[in-house]
Amino acid sequence: MKKKIVVATTNEGKLREFRQMLEPEGYQVLSLADLDHPAEIEENGTTFQENAVLKAQSVTDQFQIPAIADDSGLCIACLHNEPGVHSARWLGHDTPYDIKNQKVLELVKDAEDRSCYYACAIAWCAPGKEPKVFYDTWNGEIAREPRGTNGFGYDPIIYIPSMGKTAAELTKDEKNAVSHRGKALRKLEDWLSEQK
Ligand code: IMP
Repeated sequence: MKKKIVVATTNEGKLREFRQMLEPEGYQVLSLADLDHPAEIEENGTTFQENAVLKAQSVTDQFQIPAIADDSGLCIACLHNEPGVHSARWLGHDTPYDIKNQKVLELVKDAEDRSCYYACAIAWCAPGKEPKVFYDTWNGEIAREPRGTNGFGYDPIIYIPSMGKTAAELTKDEKNAVSHRGKALRKLEDWLSEQK
């Protein structure tokens, strides 16, 4: 019988990525939409790691089932690493990213140091087990202007010097090979296959 695991998200994109990785490993992947009244989780941790564990542990505690959750964001050096864990909520959850991105460009306009990084933490929780967290980052710089239409969120203003492109100018596969999420996901994948 397949092992069940919940990916604690309602984001279809994230769910698809986790499914692609976990199903070949023999998991039946469920999402929050498959659970009966999952508790609302307040992401009030101060680190990506804390928030990822909060989300996964809440599902494990409520339904006694293994769960995975991720938390990610953009940290900008000259803004004291903001928006960081507030990346999704920054300037309002529903504010379009072209507006958020223009605001970032304005805020870093005169900064000498335009360096930034994306971070991603993925937590794995299971009944009676200590949570495991997989974390990675992706370094870049705040671009001078938005470029590219791929990806999402802050991608058009994140310039990756080693690639000579913004994150939004990379294909999905190019981004996945080097991104914070791609690298953290592969760490989880390696660990899961060691557990067999
Ligand atoms: P989460 O869903 O709580 O992890 O929120 C992550 C937020 O961080 C997103 O809504 C974006 O604002 C930002 N973010 C994280 N990873 C990326 C990325 O790969 N590209 C663009 N924005 C990202």
